[in-house]
Amino acid sequence: MKRIVVAAGALLFGAGVVVAQQDVAVKQDNLMRAQAKSLYTVMLKTVKGEIPYDQAAINAAIAQLEESVPTIASVFATNPKEDVVNATYGSSQKIWQNKADFDSKIPPVVKAIADAKGKIKDVASLKVAYDSINSKCTDCHETYRLKLK
Ligand code: HEC
Repeated sequence: MKRIVVAAGALLFGAGVVVAQQDVAVKQDNLMRAQAKSLYTVMLKTVKGEIPYDQAAINAAIAQLEESVPTIASVFATNPKEDVVNATYGSSQKIWQNKADFDSKIPPVVKAIADAKGKIKDVASLKVAYDSINSKCTDCHETYRLKLK
């Protein structure tokens, strides 16, 4: 009887671990999606003229990126070993084989944001800032982000 209880407990524990790993992957994905909202939904759409130039919205996007980007290293500390269900993009396992190199891709983004801060006054200066920040995001994605579909 005791043995059966232990086996059932082990099964439950196993299921709990799977859920936790999906949580980690979702948390990592949510961080990227929040950054994408600032850089693409606000800044890029303004550059393209799809939405009107709104200084307050631009300042808020820069502030969001400034706060969010430095947290990438810690949010990606754990390897979830699985992708978000139905995701378009996933994490390469190379992240956790070369974590120091992955982390080294973050300060250039932080610097590009700091350099842009306070200099964006119109669509032309926004385009310069967008290109500079986006190229640093891409530097990491080229090596560590996988296209799943
Ligand atoms: C240090 C590496 C790194 C940096 C820097 C980085 N990313 Fe990512 N990004 C990833 C990885 C890994 C993934 C794939 C896993 C995921 O989606 O969480 C990803 C996924 C994404 C996705 C796809 C999300 C989805 O599932 O649809 C977007 C959008 C994104 N990043 C935007 C950005 C933006 C914008 C920046 C710059 C402000 C940025 N990222 C900076 C590593 C990085």
